[in-house]
Amino acid sequence: MAKTILVRGIDDSDADWLAAAKPPGVSQTEFIKQLIREAKSREALEQKMNDKTKTKSAPGEFRFIDLFAGIGGFNLGMRSLGGECVFASEWDKYAAQTYAAWHGPDHIYTDDIRLLDHEAIVPEHDVLLAGFPCQPFSIAGVSKKNSLGRAHGFDDAKQGNLFFSICKIAESKRPPVMILENVKNLKSHDKGNTWKVISETLDALDYEVRSQIIDAKHWVPQHRERVFIVCFDRNQFLPEEIEQFSFPKPPSKGPKLNSILEDEPEQKYMLTDNLWKYLQNYAAKHKAKGNGFGFQLVGPNDISRTMSARYYKDGSEILIDQPGWNNPRRLTPSEAAKLMGFNQRFAKMSGFKNGFPQVVSDTQAYKQFGNSVSPLVVAAVGGEVVKVLHARNLRLKKGKSK
Ligand SMILES: C[S@@+](CC[C@H](N)C(=O)[O-])C[C@H]1O[C@@H](n2cnc3c(N)ncnc32)[C@H](O)[C@@H]1O
Repeated sequence: MAKTILVRGIDDSDADWLAAAKPPGVSQTEFIKQLIREAKSREALEQKMNDKTKTKSAPGEFRFIDLFAGIGGFNLGMRSLGGECVFASEWDKYAAQTYAAWHGPDHIYTDDIRLLDHEAIVPEHDVLLAGFPCQPFSIAGVSKKNSLGRAHGFDDAKQGNLFFSICKIAESKRPPVMILENVKNLKSHDKGNTWKVISETLDALDYEVRSQIIDAKHWVPQHRERVFIVCFDRNQFLPEEIEQFSFPKPPSKGPKLNSILEDEPEQKYMLTDNLWKYLQNYAAKHKAKGNGFGFQLVGPNDISRTMSARYYKDGSEILIDQPGWNNPRRLTPSEAAKLMGFNQRFAKMSGFKNGFPQVVSDTQAYKQFGNSVSPLVVAAVGGEVVKVLHARNLRLKKGKSK
């Protein structure tokens, strides 16, 4: 039943705000009802995000947040080490669909991360994970003074770069550890300016930064070099704990494509005569001009080139040779999953008996795998990070603060 509420004693400034904020054509009563509904739904979201996550983890467990989450390569790698995901951010509708299907629909924030009210929404966590897009910065550098000294920290409009969304959360939530991932050329991007801003900003936030380029070919049959950046909060770790960290030693012998190729791929993955002819002509034309650009044909005993987000176009960067039987073919989406390391072990961990289900079109699936991080590499890097985190948690448990 509808109730009537009379409110007396409203401050002048509040009454003025109400009059100014009320959209034209909406009655004052309807506007106040709207404000109440918004406050209620916000409270519910905050409750959902913060339930059970107000406190940091005990030794042996850790909580993580997954920013620029894509389909959750970071999520799988860190969950396999005993971590619990308490928040994810991904604005692409299709990637969020896959993420929800594979990791559960809870905790996904699907708006632009730059609009995120991190103070209210992001729960406490031990590890911040982010495979952020690489963009040039509009400013030359960020010193400790100008990044942290100002009242609004990173809210400067000029700093709308997505990297700063990570920094805002780091500044307010102070995760003990962050693991960031990016393309190999991050350090040379924009003539070194991008890396300069990133490393100076992390340093100004009082994080000790370690970085290394890692080739996923040691874990999956794909040459895929990415830079991993591991950051430890200097206020939460002893220097000797940080010194314990080293990047993982890769397994000595990586797998070949025969470990992921399927026996009976559907006909739709075979190249048509026209496309195959076109790709061969295109490659010949470029070869004649002295360019090496073209398709790559691979077989069961090879490893592939890097699969990019453009693989859906014609698949030419990785074509499976089928001599004496058919034209070459592109990878099937489930082969693409395994090429990235989204394997049966991770599928089983997520409750799927026969691999990860595909909940989007082939086009979206290829894009998603091409953009993702290999969960196997994440598990290897994360495993080294977790050792350091546990050493610190144990020290804290014994009551020894920094
Ligand atoms: C390089 S991909 C990261 C993929 C992820 N590591 C994985 O394993 O799938 C970057 C992701 O950031 C998302 N993204 C880009 N800009 C964003 C924004 N402003 N807010 C939220 N997500 C964003 C993209 O949709 C994309 O999925």
